[in-house]
Amino acid sequence: MKNADLVRRKDAATPRGVGVMCNFYAERAENAELWDVEGNRYIDFAAGIAVLNTGHRHPRLVQAMQEQMARFTHTAYQIVPYASYIELAEKINVRAPGAFAKKTAFFTTGAEAVENAVKIARAATGRPGVIAFAGGFHGRTMMGMALTGKVVPYKVGFGPFPSDVFHAPYPYGLHGVSVQDSIDALQQLFKTEIDPKRVAAIIFEPVQGEGGFNVAPAEFVRALRAICDEHGILLIADEVQTGFGRTGKLFAMEHYDVVPDLTTMAKSLAGGMPLSAVCGRAEVMDAPAPGGLGGTYSGNPLAVASALAVLDVLESEKLIERGAALGRRLQDKLDGLRSRVPEIGEVRGVGAMIAVEFRKADGSPDPDFTKQVQSRALEKGLLLLSCGVYGNVIRFLFPLTISDAVMDEGLGILAGALLR
Ligand SMILES: Cc1ncc(COP(=O)(O)O)c(C=O)c1O
Repeated sequence: MKNADLVRRKDAATPRGVGVMCNFYAERAENAELWDVEGNRYIDFAAGIAVLNTGHRHPRLVQAMQEQMARFTHTAYQIVPYASYIELAEKINVRAPGAFAKKTAFFTTGAEAVENAVKIARAATGRPGVIAFAGGFHGRTMMGMALTGKVVPYKVGFGPFPSDVFHAPYPYGLHGVSVQDSIDALQQLFKTEIDPKRVAAIIFEPVQGEGGFNVAPAEFVRALRAICDEHGILLIADEVQTGFGRTGKLFAMEHYDVVPDLTTMAKSLAGGMPLSAVCGRAEVMDAPAPGGLGGTYSGNPLAVASALAVLDVLESEKLIERGAALGRRLQDKLDGLRSRVPEIGEVRGVGAMIAVEFRKADGSPDPDFTKQVQSRALEKGLLLLSCGVYGNVIRFLFPLTISDAVMDEGLGILAGALLR
């Protein structure tokens, strides 16, 4: 099988809307490495878009899924329940931020978790409004798109979107948006767009993922909590990309001294299996009536078995600490290259959630240089993802299980791609 043949078949058989970044096709993968159908090897710093914090095919995950597969693969939890769903909910309830009673419901995708968090917040408050942020990404469903603060390519041609959704700017120091600007704009929404007493929830990413790995400053998160408390609004932390060890904590909200009422999670939760969750205050989670939450595949047994193994592996292999150390190594490497790569505008992030933003000599975003770095790295066998509202940020999402040797090899290729 040749990559070029598959590209031709893909173009004929699948719609262009399912945009595909690589022109090679996966054959097999192991930890932080991937091989295509022609036998070419790649170092995977994309990890299936932040899904593989525990690497490709971690033996413990494979074993847990094989054992589950030998017993049963699907009953629909809402029809015939199984103990592992409860066990995973209990484990997440203990680990998620907040020293209050919590409950967790499982879904399939990140967007579905977001949809359900909004449903739960509306049911709990009896209010319609939701406030999100520019540059935020919350998925490709109708509500996910409405909440997403980036038009191209996510929202083009798909409106109208659900109403009562409003956006405020997210703090972005490099582009001149301060915490105060952001909070002032939010307060302005309450004057010009919606009465705060009609707002059910404010949803935000503690570190914006698709938006460019912008880290929420502590005073911003504190201000959001204070605004929510003042007006009876629920605070939703969308941890779909930040969760499960990526930021040097199990959840990014552990970096702050405030807690959200609801947390959405997906991606690395189940290490490659489709599983998402909403965890939150027990009384809020209980607001929807029986039958209001769920879905045919929600909390699929194989995915739940994989997620239980993920928690085990993160803890027994101390991957969260390792991720933070790997992140520091990457940050040091990028900082060391700054003087020789004038396009580097900022190196930012937290834990292993690190990104580099490129700009031109006049300070404007440099998406062309970003694409060049990405394609030069790919030519040498390193898979990198871009992000950012201007497409001028490279984000790093290597598995936290990556070996030192493969990490060093990846960093070497990255340096070569940056220096040309
Ligand atoms: C913060 C955040 N929320 C929601 C989503 C949507 O998740 P999914 O693509 O699984 O629907 C993503 C996906 O990148 C995300 O990063």
